[in-house]
Amino acid sequence: MSKKVLVLSASPRKGGNSDLLCDQFILGAKEAGHSVERIFLKDREINYCTGCGACYSMGEGCPQEDDMPEVLEKMIAADVIVMATPVYFYTMNGQMKTLIDRTCSRYTEISDKDFYCDGSRR
Ligand SMILES: Cc1cc2nc3c(=O)[nH]c(=O)nc-3n(C[C@H](O)[C@H](O)[C@H](O)COP(=O)(O)O)c2cc1C
Repeated sequence: MSKKVLVLSASPRKGGNSDLLCDQFILGAKEAGHSVERIFLKDREINYCTGCGACYSMGEGCPQEDDMPEVLEKMIAADVIVMATPVYFYTMNGQMKTLIDRTCSRYTEISDKDFYCDGSRR
């Protein structure tokens, strides 16, 4: 069965190491008949979560107006999510952490998926 694969690429360096790993993953996924979309987080406006609580204590959506609603829709619709980040000081980079924080309003809907995490390092 063909799956919808969403690749979230967090490195600020297009064509860098994380990207090379993504390229290979995407090649394999396409060869296996899956549809793939890759999002470079650096191309999107994704602001920090401000911890305002509108989403988790008031049951409202996130009040920020940036590109995150579109990215969240794609995450919810995907069958497979690939999170590709360079390792910065033993963990994910800030762009990836910011993305994860901003799923706060809808993360319970991001379920029943295959997740792959790729951390490229030195
Ligand atoms: C701020 C910063 C912190 C880093 N911290 C680590 C680290 O803790 N461990 C490691 O092995 N590499 C570390 N690196 C190296 C990167 O993880 C490595 O070069 C990575 O492959 C870069 O991925 P990219 O080409 O996709 O940007 C760091 C690089 C930067 C810029």
